[in-house]
Amino acid sequence: MSNRITLAVTGASGVIYALRTIRGLLIAGVQVDLVVSETGWMLLRDEGGYEGKRVEIADYLEGEYGGDGSVRLHQASDFAAPIASGSVASRGMVVVPCAMKYLSGIALGASSNLIERAADVTLKERRPLVIVPRETPMNLIHLRNQVTVAEAGATVLPANPAFYQKPETFEDLADFVAGRILSIFGLEHSLYPSWKGE
Ligand SMILES: Cc1cc2nc3c(=O)[nH]c(=O)nc-3n(C[C@H](O)[C@H](O)[C@H](O)COP(=O)(O)O)c2cc1C
Repeated sequence: MSNRITLAVTGASGVIYALRTIRGLLIAGVQVDLVVSETGWMLLRDEGGYEGKRVEIADYLEGEYGGDGSVRLHQASDFAAPIASGSVASRGMVVVPCAMKYLSGIALGASSNLIERAADVTLKERRPLVIVPRETPMNLIHLRNQVTVAEAGATVLPANPAFYQKPETFEDLADFVAGRILSIFGLEHSLYPSWKGE
């Protein structure tokens, strides 16, 4: 099985969910194919505190989170990137956080940028596609687009942290969502304690 997973960061609040998912993937030894949308970069800076150059994000993430995995950055405009083709093996893709613009583009099959194209390829190859939508409240268009992508085979995984594991930090909260994402890909992790019953 391929050891690559594509991770797209789009312009929705909650970039901490992306960072904690990348951390979990690196610890699990995954090669992360990273794509960041224009507003995603803004949120990486404003919410995530990343002040470095775009081209240095892979080194930053690998240095920050360690693990046996690696990060490879692709430009959101680069339709020639490997992840734009179904012929390149991949374990699947996650869009975290997923802005409504990208949810709609994926639901439409628009493929108008590398994020939408890679998601389209993931669905056509019948690989796991995890969409982590972030908007509230949701209008009927948002809801219908989620049904559309779910019918096409995607997993809609809202950024809804649980509280039974007694989170103490924002990172604890985000790790619950990150762990749920890793589980979809069949990756073992210890990002939160599993529920043991009463
Ligand atoms: C600070 C900030 C927060 C945003 N948060 C959300 C959000 O949580 N959900 C959402 O659907 N759009 C959100 N948006 C709007 C999207 O970023 C915008 O509609 C679009 O996705 C941007 O596309 P781009 O990432 O390709 O630049 C936000 C925009 C900004 C500037």
